[in-house]
Amino acid sequence: MHYISLQISPLTPPRPRPRLGDTTTSRCHSLPPEKLEIYKSLEPWVAHSILPLLKPTDKSWQPSDFLPNSSQPSDQFAAEVQNLRDLSANLPDDYLVVLVGNMITEDALPTYETYINTFDGVRDETGASASPWATWTRAWTAEEKRHGDLLRTYLYLSGRVDMLMIERTVQNLIASGMDPKTEKNPYMGFVYTSFQERATFVSHGNTARLAKENGDPLLARICGIIASDEKRHENAYIKIVEKLLEVDTTTAMLAIADMMRKRITMPAYLMNDGQDTSLFSHYSAVAQRLGVYTAGDYADILEFLVGRWKLEGLEGLTDEGRCAQEYVCGLAQRIRKLQERSHERARKIKPLSQKFSWIFNKKIIL
Ligand SMILES: [Fe+2]
Ligand SMILES: [Fe+2]
Repeated sequence: MHYISLQISPLTPPRPRPRLGDTTTSRCHSLPPEKLEIYKSLEPWVAHSILPLLKPTDKSWQPSDFLPNSSQPSDQFAAEVQNLRDLSANLPDDYLVVLVGNMITEDALPTYETYINTFDGVRDETGASASPWATWTRAWTAEEKRHGDLLRTYLYLSGRVDMLMIERTVQNLIASGMDPKTEKNPYMGFVYTSFQERATFVSHGNTARLAKENGDPLLARICGIIASDEKRHENAYIKIVEKLLEVDTTTAMLAIADMMRKRITMPAYLMNDGQDTSLFSHYSAVAQRLGVYTAGDYADILEFLVGRWKLEGLEGLTDEGRCAQEYVCGLAQRIRKLQERSHERARKIKPLSQKFSWIFNKKIIL
């Protein structure tokens, strides 16, 4: 099978990349201080329009809703565990690699809360700030926490994977962190989170579909419920960017273009099990081959966001903003062309295979 890395070329045009705000500010703080007021003024809107997208705890699913109940008598608990193991027995090894990669990505949640708290104007200044922005971030984190917990426990009980190597990968990943080059800038940051939440929605949705096809309806429900959370979160971040486009059109448009020029890197791109130095690209290649998350999905997400944010019809942009608009609106098509060419090349290359420590060093075709 062919190998198509998700890290495809950035399609960077020769013209200089537009910068947000004052070019003398550090790349680490590209939000001009006067723009902080915009985020302050949006607080009532966040409280009314974004916080209701969260689910109260007593209405939220919990991992224990999907897992064997350990408070039952031992034989009943053992029977439920056996049922889970029987269902997971037929999952193919390549599918498990992708499921583990997704689980590890979810389990590095501390990195993502830290990351969102880098954004100027919206970060949680105290750790328990009453600001609606901070309230959202903490509650979002609390909802997300269930994803890694549920997938991890399922995988542990299945007996199909090497938990020690998975746990080492998680520890290394959290220690490495991530830097999607959003410069502490909330315009760029919310573009990144919009894209990412949709990417995880697509990915968990596809692992749900494949679990069902492989005869594991329990795992299909698990991945499906996680995908539905991602969809709700995607909706929140998309609405935030939509609002930014309304109140500060050119800056928001430039931020979208800037992030797309840099390419949206996956949050777990620094994953490392201490053995495979290209672990993330190998996991991505298997995800691509199984159709869980592909270069085509990347283009689809971009196209979806362009439509959802009505970028083609944006008015009132500066010249620089119009340039950014033109670049972003034509990008999905250019990615697809590039993808076709890389498919052509890949067809001529012999299939590669790779050992994955997560599944006891079994070899998987990339
Ligand atoms: Fe998640
Ligand atoms: Fe998420």
